[in-house]
Amino acid sequence: MMPKIELHLHLEGAAPPAFIRGLAKEKHMDIDGIFDARGHYRYKDFWDFLKVYEAATSTLKSPEDYARLTRAVLEESAASGVVYSETFLSPDFCGNRDIGAWREYLQAIREAADQAEREMGIVLRGIVTSIRHFGPEKARETALCAADTAGDWIVGFGLAGDEAVLAPKDFAWSFDCAREAGLRLTAHAGEWGGPQSVRDAVNDLGVERIGHGVRAIEDLALVDELAERGIVLEVCPGSNVALGLYPDWRSHPIGQLYDRGVKVTVSTDDPPFFHTTMAREFEELHRTFDWDDGVFSALNRTALDAAFCDADTRARIA
Ligand code: ADE
Ligand code: ZN
Repeated sequence: MMPKIELHLHLEGAAPPAFIRGLAKEKHMDIDGIFDARGHYRYKDFWDFLKVYEAATSTLKSPEDYARLTRAVLEESAASGVVYSETFLSPDFCGNRDIGAWREYLQAIREAADQAEREMGIVLRGIVTSIRHFGPEKARETALCAADTAGDWIVGFGLAGDEAVLAPKDFAWSFDCAREAGLRLTAHAGEWGGPQSVRDAVNDLGVERIGHGVRAIEDLALVDELAERGIVLEVCPGSNVALGLYPDWRSHPIGQLYDRGVKVTVSTDDPPFFHTTMAREFEELHRTFDWDDGVFSALNRTALDAAFCDADTRARIA
């Protein structure tokens, strides 16, 4: 199986439903409504997805829970051939943005990741993520958590959540704080917002990567600008199709973006929610666009170059 570099994975969003169900049972929590009859996550649209995501996450209550989650997630990723996973970690869920508690969660996640690396060879690095619909004030506290733990393991800062509320510039303070702490920057944009949302993320936050960014395709001048400036898109086609952004794989713009010279990479976002894995993303891209190992190697090389890790780590996973 081809070794894969993944740049866009939400730790909570990668939680297998059976794992979350097990935690809920242990804690006597009733969250049955978020599962369908087959035990899969059930949601109607993106906004409902965010609610289900937060309900599932409410079962994760301690650093130990996060250690177990990290193990479960990395096992799934490694089974798909992933050798490097840049993973979004959220102080909003890990210790309610209290710096002391955040450090404890991080320590537990890191120990689990180190063990997975020793046993399965998969490397995890963290991107601390603020959540747009929780607002700029909480994002500031999140940025302070990020700055406090920035280093060779926490390598980036990001923004996820509901793109329909607020604007990138509302989070400028947080991104400046993270940048000053030496963190690299990415933001979700151009998923539920159009081309202007992508422009604003690049110009108002100074990000070098965009989470999704696919709706840039609605403005070809922007597509050319992204290509020229070397902005990397963390494209998650299976996520976009499952959430109804595009009706099917054939309609997804990743092929057009790639053909026009944009630096695209492939990730899963929240794999069990979208019934996907990295192996499945590659299979669907092969089936839909006839992409072969030559294209996949090029995508992996782009992802390797765009990874936020240090040079030693990059050399190890290359
Ligand atoms: N958080 C988890 N998955 C997300 C997505 N696809 N868009 C925005 N925020 C998210
Ligand atoms: Zn995402």
